Amino acid sequence: MTKRKVFILGGGGFIGFSIAKILSVRKNYEITIGDNFCNNQYDSTFIKFIKSNNIKLIIADFTLKSSFEKLKNNYDDFYMLASMIGVNNTLQNPHEVIRVNTALIYNSLEWIKNSKIKNVLFTSTSECYSGTIDRFNYNIPTSEDVPLCIDPIDHPRFTYAVTKMLGESGFLNYSRVFNFNCKIIRYNNIFGPRMGFGHVIPHLVERFLDKESPFKIYGAKQTRSFCYIDDGAIGTIKAMECENAKSDIFHIGSDIEITIEKLVKKTGEFFNYNGEYIISKTYPGSVSRRCPDISKAKKLLKFFPSTSWEDGLFKTLKWYKNYYLGKEGLNKRYFKGPDKFYK
Ligand SMILES: NC(=O)c1ccc[n+]([C@@H]2O[C@H](COP(=O)([O-])OP(=O)(O)OC[C@H]3O[C@@H](n4cnc5c(N)ncnc54)[C@H](O)[C@@H]3O)[C@@H](O)[C@H]2O)c1
Repeated sequence: MTKRKVFILGGGGFIGFSIAKILSVRKNYEITIGDNFCNNQYDSTFIKFIKSNNIKLIIADFTLKSSFEKLKNNYDDFYMLASMIGVNNTLQNPHEVIRVNTALIYNSLEWIKNSKIKNVLFTSTSECYSGTIDRFNYNIPTSEDVPLCIDPIDHPRFTYAVTKMLGESGFLNYSRVFNFNCKIIRYNNIFGPRMGFGHVIPHLVERFLDKESPFKIYGAKQTRSFCYIDDGAIGTIKAMECENAKSDIFHIGSDIEITIEKLVKKTGEFFNYNGEYIISKTYPGSVSRRCPDISKAKKLLKFFPSTSWEDGLFKTLKWYKNYYLGKEGLNKRYFKGPDKFYK
């Protein structure tokens, strides 16, 4: 049986690794991963996985055109997940977010243009419509066809979203001109073990382990919807392999909207916290509500997230607690918090 040849750029990261794990179990895939491991995710779990599943790994910085010369040109599927992410990165190094993400997008497109690749998937974000919701009052849950808008344009936080808008337009337009299938995935808070350290859930773990009390809830009334990694990765593969849509945009996430207060208090239960909670301001520019309309993905991709946010949360908390209490994580802390923006 001919194997389906897959290239995952950014496959060493949180979502890319999960996609590779799912495909490797299915057997009829030949997987190549490209990554520069700028987030230190080249760990023993990853190395063991690569070796035991016969996966080809190319460690290179793909902001450089020359890195693409190490690839074959006949993959069936190209997952483009490489990106510089994280609110702290955007606030501290917005110029780097622009440089890295733009170079990754541009080099990928120029390489795809001259290759024989049939199916391409670009990963974007719900941040692209953060201004649409806050400024223009569009419906929540939010569907794929709302206009994309960030506000204000000069805020460093939005450098990430601006590069993702460039990516969406770039991938869709190149696909039309150079005739390949192209799916855009707008993720919405995918979470789980090994998601990195710049997210709300690992931050909560650090703070509960450090016995913060009273415990601050930043942006308590803001809402988010959390989608467990297994569901997010399966949704992505379904989009890539969907034959009903040649080129299309899908929201992949959960449509269960919860407040940050609920998330924090559930986490507090896991850590048996009985102290007081106080409400505090969150990062400037952070959107007040966010929840994707996933009915299109349900209908066309048969995407039905199956892990509840509570079950996913407990699995994730357990992983991070073990990490922080283990040898590697014992003295590591990443949470800087939004307080400094209001001094
Ligand atoms: N996790 C989410 O909830 C979420 C939400 C919205 C969008 N996304 C998008 O999905 C994609 C995957 O997200 P993730 O959470 O797995 O992030 P991640 O940071 O874990 O994965 C990204 C990977 O890209 C790699 N990378 C970065 N720069 C590179 C370079 N110059 N050359 C080669 N590799 C490079 C990183 O080393 C990392 O392994 C990203 O594009 C992200 O913007 C994720």
